Amino acid sequence: MINPLKSIEINNYRLTHPNIHPDQVGFRIAQISDVHLGRWVKPRHMQQVVEFVNGESPDLVALTGDYVGYNHRDLVPCIETLGELSSNTYAVLGNHDHWTCCDTAMEGFRRVDIPVLANRSLVVDDFMAPLEVVGIDDHVTKNSDVNQAFSNVVGDSFCLVLNHVPSIAPRLAARGADLILSGHTHGHQFNIPGITRRIAEALGVEYHVGAYCLDGTYLYINRGLGSASWPVRIGAAPELTFFELATGDEPNLELLDSSHLQVKHRRR
Ligand SMILES: [Fe+2]
Ligand SMILES: [Fe+2]
Repeated sequence: MINPLKSIEINNYRLTHPNIHPDQVGFRIAQISDVHLGRWVKPRHMQQVVEFVNGESPDLVALTGDYVGYNHRDLVPCIETLGELSSNTYAVLGNHDHWTCCDTAMEGFRRVDIPVLANRSLVVDDFMAPLEVVGIDDHVTKNSDVNQAFSNVVGDSFCLVLNHVPSIAPRLAARGADLILSGHTHGHQFNIPGITRRIAEALGVEYHVGAYCLDGTYLYINRGLGSASWPVRIGAAPELTFFELATGDEPNLELLDSSHLQVKHRRR
């Protein structure tokens, strides 16, 4: 009964930004990252996460990659479970999705009608002022193409970027991203204060976990939900994140509240 998803931290943020249109005030974005469905995280666990997110009724759900661990057979069950999300949902792929089977992932998302933004963008204007949504394909597997992803982005609408690997955030900020949602690091997963971060920095890691402000662009690195390796997280609890948009002259990201969702080991 080992499961890294037992207790998920739910973080609610308010993002204030001058590029947010008054019509977009109150718009809520949910981020789900690094599910790594497989040996430890099962569809019955993820089903409870999907039920929780559906109960929150966000306006948009951002899926930021790494849906499985190492087995391509886990892709379809994960994607089918995420297909039960009731909000407008967009996805990018992570390195584990490419390492297992990119074609299976793309076909799975096509079947549940979730667009995969593999170096492309679209405009979401169903509810209010237009919102640019840009997706960057995985950078670890050398599938990212920032120029192609931003090639159709015009104007000064608020620009949300889904990007699995946070290390390329400065390039996305330079192209006009306002909010970049990333994952991949798992908040170091085995996060021993004073040690883990120093080791990561020595290895060249610049963006670790949580929020960073890059000249007015916010990067948020979600710790993700699952684990591709050991079902243990130390100092890096699984996380589900919500962002509520607000207008303001200065970019600011404020944590409004934090709570926990207990995931039961029920069988369906
Ligand atoms: Fe991951
Ligand atoms: Fe990853």
